Amino acid sequence: MWRLVLAVLFLISCGQDPVPPPTQSIARPADLKLDEYAQKIEDFLKKELAESYNDSISVATEKQMREGHAIYQQRCAGCHGTTGMGDGMLAAHLNPKPSNFTDKYSALRFSDKGRMHIIKVGLMKHGAQMTPFGEFLDDDDIFAVYSYTKAFIKE
Ligand code: HEC
Repeated sequence: MWRLVLAVLFLISCGQDPVPPPTQSIARPADLKLDEYAQKIEDFLKKELAESYNDSISVATEKQMREGHAIYQQRCAGCHGTTGMGDGMLAAHLNPKPSNFTDKYSALRFSDKGRMHIIKVGLMKHGAQMTPFGEFLDDDDIFAVYSYTKAFIKE
């Protein structure tokens, strides 16, 4: 009997979605200095997005976080790693390495809108193997998956 109860509990816990709660945006530290590579990307993003570069974005709902999780596992984890550490299966072959979403510098060097734009248009022309996803993901998908990556950041 106990075995049955344990088996049922085990199955229930497996079915639970390990999706973290959505996080608010964290302000970029005033003393954060961009290196030359990141500066070029920031200039590009500011040119593309103009004033909207610094617009704030809303906090995702739980449903959007679940959608973001599914998209992330399918399209991003291979490079950025299932836990966002930039250590996916393909990472070893890439230079620069896929960003580590738990790292504050990497997560805060560009604005939220800027990072969502990177997901849309990629960074290929900046010499990084970050593929453009605009063809596969609409703006809602990009918001969902981006919100999911934000939950990886470590204070
Ligand atoms: C083929 C490997 C690859 C895949 C797949 C990939 N990325 Fe990237 N990504 C990279 C690389 C390489 C960079 C550049 C790292 C750097 O700038 O230091 C990058 C950079 C980024 C950046 C900008 C840097 C930052 O942290 O702000 C974001 C945001 C990002 N990726 C999100 C995603 C999301 C979301 C997905 C899935 C929809 C994804 N990536 C899929 C390789 C990949």
